Amino acid sequence: MPFDRSIKIAPSILSADFANFGAEIRAIEAQGADWVHVDVMDGHFVPNLTFGPMAVKAFRPHVKTVMDVHLMIAPVDPYIDAYAEAGADVLTAHVEAGPHIHRTLQAIRGAGMKAGVALNPGTPAEAVAHLLDLADLVCVMTVNPGFGGQKFIDMTSKVRALRAMIGDRPVHIEIDGGVDPVTAPLVAAAGADVLVAGSAVFKGGSVDAPEVYGRNIEAIRAAAAA
Ligand code: DX5
Ligand code: ZN
Repeated sequence: MPFDRSIKIAPSILSADFANFGAEIRAIEAQGADWVHVDVMDGHFVPNLTFGPMAVKAFRPHVKTVMDVHLMIAPVDPYIDAYAEAGADVLTAHVEAGPHIHRTLQAIRGAGMKAGVALNPGTPAEAVAHLLDLADLVCVMTVNPGFGGQKFIDMTSKVRALRAMIGDRPVHIEIDGGVDPVTAPLVAAAGADVLVAGSAVFKGGSVDAPEVYGRNIEAIRAAAAA
């Protein structure tokens, strides 16, 4: 996984057909997805529940790009080895999920994965100031996590601050929530390079009409480049 700051579109399979994950993953990758974003929710850290390490392990053989696993769970540490075993390439934990995010990031790297740290909308950029040498990705939430299809919350000033704090470090800035062709240019201009999009990628498409996914992905990519 060589580092670069080109725009990467990461469809969230939270908006896929839950009875058909393998085919959905293959369809979005064939249609130009750069990464596959996997939203893990525990019904405790966030008010919704998705799937756990056994499901993520089942997704793995279908993902040929990068499996980007976003943990919206607390606690995190007891599950790190399970997600390594499941084959996560990037494992992201929330700053707000517990008192020891520094230890969590060390443990994620120690288990052989890239380490991501996510910030809820109410959490300032400064929360990761002492973590940037331990992280490979900072995820800026532009919705309150828990559900797809929510309205984008403007976090461009936070993204700009993070971009300046990161400097030359090989750390991605990922945006998660409400990304579409209207909002993508705002965050790309502020310095983000990984754009997660659920509803804006899957809307109108299906595994039987995958070209719609391709058009949706390209619309976000073109808007971000403009
Ligand atoms: C929100 C999840 C997101 C979500 C994005 O809790 O972390 O990844 O699926 O969905 P959209 O793009 O529909 O806002
Ligand atoms: Zn997510």
